[in-house]
Amino acid sequence: MPPRNHKNWLKQPNVESVSSEIYSSRKIFNEEIESIFSKVWVPVCHISEMYNELDYRTSQIAGHNIIVYNTGDGVRAYYNHSIQKPTGKLQAPIATSDPELYSEIKHGGMVWVTLDPNPTMDVEQWTAGAFDCIADAIDTEELEIFHYHKAVIPTNYKLWHDTNSEFYHDFMHYFNRVTGFNDEYFARKNIAFDNGHVNVSSFTVNYTEFDKEGDRGELSFPNLPPNQWYMVDLFPGFNFNLRGSAYRSDSVTPLGPNKVLIEFRGYGLRKDTPEERQTRIKHHNTIWGPFGRNLHEDLLGVTGQGTTMREGTEDRHILHGRHENSTIHDEVGMRHYYSEWGKYLDMDPYHV
Ligand SMILES: [Fe+2]
Repeated sequence: MPPRNHKNWLKQPNVESVSSEIYSSRKIFNEEIESIFSKVWVPVCHISEMYNELDYRTSQIAGHNIIVYNTGDGVRAYYNHSIQKPTGKLQAPIATSDPELYSEIKHGGMVWVTLDPNPTMDVEQWTAGAFDCIADAIDTEELEIFHYHKAVIPTNYKLWHDTNSEFYHDFMHYFNRVTGFNDEYFARKNIAFDNGHVNVSSFTVNYTEFDKEGDRGELSFPNLPPNQWYMVDLFPGFNFNLRGSAYRSDSVTPLGPNKVLIEFRGYGLRKDTPEERQTRIKHHNTIWGPFGRNLHEDLLGVTGQGTTMREGTEDRHILHGRHENSTIHDEVGMRHYYSEWGKYLDMDPYHV
């Protein structure tokens, strides 16, 4: 093996790789906002955050403030020019000469908005079957949000999505090593869908290896066999994560090449008894809550990546070259994502 001197370090590898420039360039970031985020469907919130007529939620897409509210018969979205609070109740339906933004409620009650004034696809077409694996679990009963927090992380938004798309970083998670590293885990498949989406097939997690009382089978989501774990990675940066009894969504709002706002939501079933809800919250928090496992470790990981790839750092090659029959550590999901990403930016990400 040749020495890892500077010259060799910069040499083009003979497997698929992207330049770290795509994570650090201001120019590329601006193009992403313009060409990707202002075109795609964005899951801005959940309908249970605005149950009643005239309840609203504000958000930001591609640098634009937006507001979405409950009409009593669906939702409507507009550019937001004046409302300051992130959530509340309107006095009356919004009356404006601004055109309405396209919005839909879809996939377990998520509220989707696009800034595209002429979308070529509805949400169902856009998600292209990526939710099919969990549709019976999230669409049979009404879901209800029980957890929300946001984090501003000094990293590129794509590094967060990468973390949700590759599973070799799972070695970082003590919880996952103890509960999950069995033959079934390593046989999981990454499945690609149109429009850059990917999902990861399920396996049975052995929660009791971590905590004797930790089994989640009893409170599994509808139609879901006990202790399953599905992930849906939606282009360009949205993740839906169903671990048996608790469901989580992540949404990114890119703020700069090296700055991203990530919103995390946790969900149970609206019909939960108080005891059931408490158990779901405990299960959610064990992994993703403030004193739990996994989520903070993921955030520390991408913060470290962000540090090494911040604006002004030297470009280097990030490998996406693992080919392992689409099983869990195959980087097929990353390659699928970046080939879609390249179409929006009219560039080949493997030859920036
Ligand atoms: Fe992780």
